[in-house]
Amino acid sequence: MAQAHYPMPAALKDEARLDAARYQEMYNQSVQDPESFWAEHGKRITWFTPYTEVKNTHFGKNDVQIEWFRDGTLNACYNCVDRHLAERADKTAIIWEGDDVDEQKHISYRELHEQVAKFANGLKKLGVKKGDRVAIYMPMVPEAAYAMLACARLGAIHSVIFAGFSPNAIADRVNDCGAKVVITANEGRRGGKGVALKTNVDKAVADNACPSVSSVVVFQHTETEVPWNSELDVWWHELIGNCDSDCPAEVMQAEDPLFILYTSGSTGTPKGVQHTTGGYMVYASMTHEYVFDLREDDVYWCAADVGWITGHSYIVYGPLANGATTLMFEGVPTYPDETRIAKIVDKHQVNILYTAPTAIRALMAKGDAAARGSSRESLRILGSVGEPINPEAWDWYYNCIGNGKCPIMDTFWQTETGGIMITPLPAVKDMKPGAAMMPFFGVQPALVDNEGNKLEGVAEGNLVIADSWPGQARTLWGDHERFVQTYFSTYEGYYFTGDGAKVDEDGDYMITGRVDDVLNVSGHRLGTAEIESALVAHEAVAEAAVVGFPHDIKGQGIYVYVTVVEGTEPTDELRKELIQWVRTDLSPIATPDHIQFSPGLPKTRSGKIMRRILRKIAANEHDSLGDTSTLADPSVVESLIENRLNK
Ligand code: WT7
Repeated sequence: MAQAHYPMPAALKDEARLDAARYQEMYNQSVQDPESFWAEHGKRITWFTPYTEVKNTHFGKNDVQIEWFRDGTLNACYNCVDRHLAERADKTAIIWEGDDVDEQKHISYRELHEQVAKFANGLKKLGVKKGDRVAIYMPMVPEAAYAMLACARLGAIHSVIFAGFSPNAIADRVNDCGAKVVITANEGRRGGKGVALKTNVDKAVADNACPSVSSVVVFQHTETEVPWNSELDVWWHELIGNCDSDCPAEVMQAEDPLFILYTSGSTGTPKGVQHTTGGYMVYASMTHEYVFDLREDDVYWCAADVGWITGHSYIVYGPLANGATTLMFEGVPTYPDETRIAKIVDKHQVNILYTAPTAIRALMAKGDAAARGSSRESLRILGSVGEPINPEAWDWYYNCIGNGKCPIMDTFWQTETGGIMITPLPAVKDMKPGAAMMPFFGVQPALVDNEGNKLEGVAEGNLVIADSWPGQARTLWGDHERFVQTYFSTYEGYYFTGDGAKVDEDGDYMITGRVDDVLNVSGHRLGTAEIESALVAHEAVAEAAVVGFPHDIKGQGIYVYVTVVEGTEPTDELRKELIQWVRTDLSPIATPDHIQFSPGLPKTRSGKIMRRILRKIAANEHDSLGDTSTLADPSVVESLIENRLNK
């Protein structure tokens, strides 16, 4: 059993940059006088033209303005690369650990500069210029970071598409932002298997399905041969073959977009969350430094994927802006076996390890085996991100991986927040397993009830943020109205996270999970609406409803209720076919765990599906269904319970 409190390790207290008093002093300043706080801390970034304005923000129900440092100019790539050349040219910027245990690379800041500048010149040859969109569909190789940074160097807006997405999902994302170029690799590798990236891109762009795309750049990562379309395709190595390693960084306005990243919401198609340059860089780099108490010689490892916001802010932009050594891992925690994470820690003498509860739980399932044959003595700080971490997993991570001496930063944030929002901080306060604890500087969290009344003291409610912070998303690509609607119209004057939270007697926050129809499956965010729309596209499906249910390893599993069209047999064959259908249409990460065929779904008299009931049945908690008096046909529920699959 996990304890309720764990003290901050004493050794850390002597050296950490913060303590309780310093945190409180800085936090107070950050919320009482954000202008002067951020005027000072904005200077951590190198500006071509310094800003004179700091904060121009307004959260209205119908009008939202978010601008930070708006008259300053800068370049994100310059901040991650060029500015380190004077003092850190030979320092390792990226350590790459391949899927294969014998493969590794060290890339210095000098080499990073050369590779990024060359590739940026290559993109220029393809006509990429400031403001153009570029899609990146890459495995976890250094070239993924080069591609992102090269776009930033030119002022092109990248949109990284997670390499687990299927052709349809790629096409949707490419078309929504009108990407001119897609950057991919012939093949990725994970857990000893090949991932057919180029083939997926081929399918996505086939038959002119992505008319905006004029080139597909292919990095040759493995020996596997791929079909070639000479009208679109160009090899990465050929593109940069005669490119110069001198490429000036474009001067960007603070509010020029840096990237778009698609994420799932409770309704409709994925949202193109748009981040801009100045505020994002300030916030990503500052959170990275303070939350992990970064030191110059640290080896820092965030075991996420660049396809998600965690990879953007805490593999690439934050660490590189800080001149850190960032480790990039191509593989999976359980390949070749469950000792991989610990072995990488020892091999590269990792000081800071930042990973997700789902990975921790997968390793924990093997008892102490994950720690076998490793000392992990180099570790100083641990991090967790992406979903609530249950106290048992917290305790295992702390003791088994961290040898009982490394504090765990349980960082709560979102694609939309750009950086960490609520988190423990080294040496500031004792830890509580499962609690994200305190707001970062400038963040003003609050709880509101369903009517929007602010809750004070010990409470549970909807988690909102009362004022802007520099890393916040500015809009959704091409749909500012949806941005305002989604995040600002539910509770007037607040940014709504979509999460529930509790505050305890010490004022510490505990995130309880999404309160909307968004699922968190193995740390991957999925909209139930997206999975449903994939399902109803199948000819045998008349209606589908998707809910989450508690899952030991994944956090949440996917439970699907399907009503088949008349004349179709609901067979096991069909079930298998539907599972495969979702995998190919959307992504293997959206694979349903259970598909229950049911002749009807519980609906209100006005025809609205009562998801609350479906969630209870999926969780095997049908004894506490709550009020069912508004159901049009109560008998549907009995049959659903009888045929439930998660017993
Ligand atoms: C959702 C955001 C944050 C980057 C990776 C995920 C959940 C995230 C925590 C945490 C409890 C967490 C929330 C949030 N979440 N971190 N430490 N404790 N829940 O980014 O894909 O945008 O998902 O992940 O539900 O809303 P994302």
